[in-house]
Amino acid sequence: MEPSLERTPNEASGSPNIRLPPNLVERLAPARRVVVLTGAGVSAESGVPTFRDAQTGLWARYRAEDLATPEAFARDPDLVWRWYAWRRGLVEAAEPNAAHHALARMEALVPEFLLVTQNVDGLHARAGSRRLVELHGDIRRTICSRERCVVELDRASAHDEHAPSCPRCGARLRPDVVWFGESLPEAALQQALTAAGRCDVLLSIGTSGLVVPAAWLVPVARDAGAAVGIINTDPSPAAFGVEQVIGRAATVVPQLVRRVWNEG
Ligand code: OAD
Repeated sequence: MEPSLERTPNEASGSPNIRLPPNLVERLAPARRVVVLTGAGVSAESGVPTFRDAQTGLWARYRAEDLATPEAFARDPDLVWRWYAWRRGLVEAAEPNAAHHALARMEALVPEFLLVTQNVDGLHARAGSRRLVELHGDIRRTICSRERCVVELDRASAHDEHAPSCPRCGARLRPDVVWFGESLPEAALQQALTAAGRCDVLLSIGTSGLVVPAAWLVPVARDAGAAVGIINTDPSPAAFGVEQVIGRAATVVPQLVRRVWNEG
């Protein structure tokens, strides 16, 4: 299926009117079960860099893959802690965008809705999404690197130059996010895969689909007979059997909700 790219000016919002695949709109309207998988592209328009964006400023010389690992943390916990303090600062300064709000609205319009995100920025929750699975954790939460229990941190410690120590056992504290090579929270992954295997429609929004097991949701849904739509600024190379909409999430997702549910 060819990606939809047709753009016509949209008087109402001034944003380009994306031609949405009729099959996707027709399948979404009556759908009882909808699963949405999101990635960093959904937060890009809130000013949160995506994973495959080049790092900026001080962090330009590092790759996310070289810092978001248990080995990097063991080797230099303060460096990794400072990188996450920088990212936490970006996230705290960010606001949910129109895509986050449209997905929170979609949750209220669909009988059985589940939003599965790879993002750790908390913006879906801040936009009001409640039927939410955070597969890769939440950068705003801090845990003990030994006991993995959540530790409440004051703002100063959260932005400290050094990785603080656990008040209970003395081990270093770390962000509550999944690092490369670590397992995802089993219950969250099972919930996401089960929902993908029984949904009527799955939307994959703003993710490169390069990281498993999150990326498995698309073929699981497609092979179970769901209609699958990919919304991304770049065409997906492995999008056989799915609809593709090339466009920015903050433009396409609100238009999709308006078109399917005659909202707003
Ligand atoms: P990526 O940076 O890999 O991909 C972001 C995708 O969003 C790309 O395909 C972009 O083309 C697209 N994109 C960028 N801006 C967009 C916009 N405004 N609207 C729509 N799409 C846009 O980020 P993820 O796919 O989320 O894992 O990365 C998945 C995982 O890889 C992350 O959760 C992280 C990383 O390793 C862990 O930290 C465990």
